[in-house]
Amino acid sequence: MDKICVIPGDGVGPEVMEACLEVLDATGVRLEYVRARAGLACYERCGSYLPEETLEAARESRACLLGAVQSPSDLRGYRSPIVELRKALELYANLRPFRCYTGRCLRDLDIVLVRENTEGLYSGIERVEEDRAVTERVVTRKATERIVRFAFEYALKYNRGRVTCLHKANVLESDRFFREIFFRVAEGYRVEAGEELVDAAALHLITDPGRFDVLVTANLYGDILSDELAGLTGGLGFAPSASIGEEHAVFEPVHGAAPDIAGKGAANPAAMILSGAMMLDHLGYAEERERIEQAVEETCRAGVLTRDAGGRCGTEEFAAEVVRNLG
Ligand code: NAI
Ligand code: MG
Repeated sequence: MDKICVIPGDGVGPEVMEACLEVLDATGVRLEYVRARAGLACYERCGSYLPEETLEAARESRACLLGAVQSPSDLRGYRSPIVELRKALELYANLRPFRCYTGRCLRDLDIVLVRENTEGLYSGIERVEEDRAVTERVVTRKATERIVRFAFEYALKYNRGRVTCLHKANVLESDRFFREIFFRVAEGYRVEAGEELVDAAALHLITDPGRFDVLVTANLYGDILSDELAGLTGGLGFAPSASIGEEHAVFEPVHGAAPDIAGKGAANPAAMILSGAMMLDHLGYAEERERIEQAVEETCRAGVLTRDAGGRCGTEEFAAEVVRNLG
């Protein structure tokens, strides 16, 4: 039985996690859950946002499920436990598939965003001087080759015909470097390779999303565009993600702890449930992933929706309907 590290976290995290586990169990796949703690509540209890035993549990599991954690914006020296976890497990690829489940999204697109997750403007190499602040944007050959290869392998595995590199090579030398590596790696694959300036792509995602299939891009661009893509496809409540490395993987919704609606049973669990479905696929249960995605779609199209999506149902009711639709 695969061992899964389950980190519910803060705010709506535990609520959407319960919904997700219920759906995963209903597929019939047997998993061993090891519960672990991280986040603000954990810090208040044990003085750490990411205790060593959580890291250990994550390292010993085949995959992790993560709800969401709440981060303080005023604590000096604070480091996000999610960033720490990604570093500790060497999760270099952030994978975010976007599509419309409700039939009432701003755009009916189907796009997978692959984001470099270890460097770029989030290199952490920064200094604040008297009259200026500097952040180094680091783009290495190793990390770029790895993320581009990941995007093409993904396209091959899931029969996607085109990978587009988003960059700002007209301005940034570091992006010229990224772009050159992209086209060199692309030569080894029988998948169409394209490119677009990232600002133009931000516009085309709205006016002509059909031109895109798999996107591969640097850390900050991917961070920004994934919120745009979530907005176009029903909002944060429907956006799942995976952070993947050679040996480990963490599956989590794109959204945060949503303290404004926490504890009310009102959160949309779709993003967490869809993240769980991605995890099943990662473990070799591709068919179960598809079953869950179909059940979520059926649930939404029947009008069973949480408030963020214009409906009236609660977290548990939504999950129960997904389970029913799994058949
Ligand atoms: P957020 O994603 O928590 O919430 C943004 C808005 O979307 C809120 O109005 C919230 O109610 C709504 N929302 C989010 N998820 C929802 C869901 N499943 N169903 C219905 N509505 C949902 O982002 P925000 O407010 O910027 O951050 C809140 C806290 O979460 C902060 O402490 C932040 O640091 C943390 N955070 C954690 C993340 C993570 O764990 N991966 C990611 C983003 C933020
Ligand atoms: Mg973000």
